[in-house]
Amino acid sequence: MNRQIKTNFQEYTFDELPALDKQLAEKAREATQTSYSPFSHFKVGAALMLDNGVVLTGSNQENASFTTGICAERCTVFYANANYPGVGVKAIAIAAIDTSGNFSDEPISPCGACRQVLSEIEHRHHPMRTILCGREKVYIFESVSDLLPFQFTSDSL
Ligand code: THU
Repeated sequence: MNRQIKTNFQEYTFDELPALDKQLAEKAREATQTSYSPFSHFKVGAALMLDNGVVLTGSNQENASFTTGICAERCTVFYANANYPGVGVKAIAIAAIDTSGNFSDEPISPCGACRQVLSEIEHRHHPMRTILCGREKVYIFESVSDLLPFQFTSDSL
């Protein structure tokens, strides 16, 4: 039997984003400036809003021992969990400056490991709006599960 999964997302231009999404998207863009990425020259920024309204940002942090670096998304959500334990994440925005030195043409999509980490936070609280920013085009997912179907969660243990 052939089965299919459909995913839902909305496409906006940067300028037409709803106010809260735009605020986070702009913060994610700003956060690219804090990236430490001398090896990939790919600067990723993330900005999230917690359920209590606090906005936090982070960026990718690389290391000469490549595998020890961390993506912007995990940098940001781990910081959030460490400083605001037990508080859910309403929304997260991600932006990147690519090796050409410009905001990436296509919306930046979180890697598999980051999707897994985001999905666990979502699972502990509620759906997390996920805003993937390109230079003009922005994709919005109402939930990380729309980005990561067939999630492995603590329910699977
Ligand atoms: N990176 C992120 O920070 N987030 C992503 O979603 C994809 C990749 C980082 C990891 C590495 O520092 C650089 O981008 C190139 O892969």
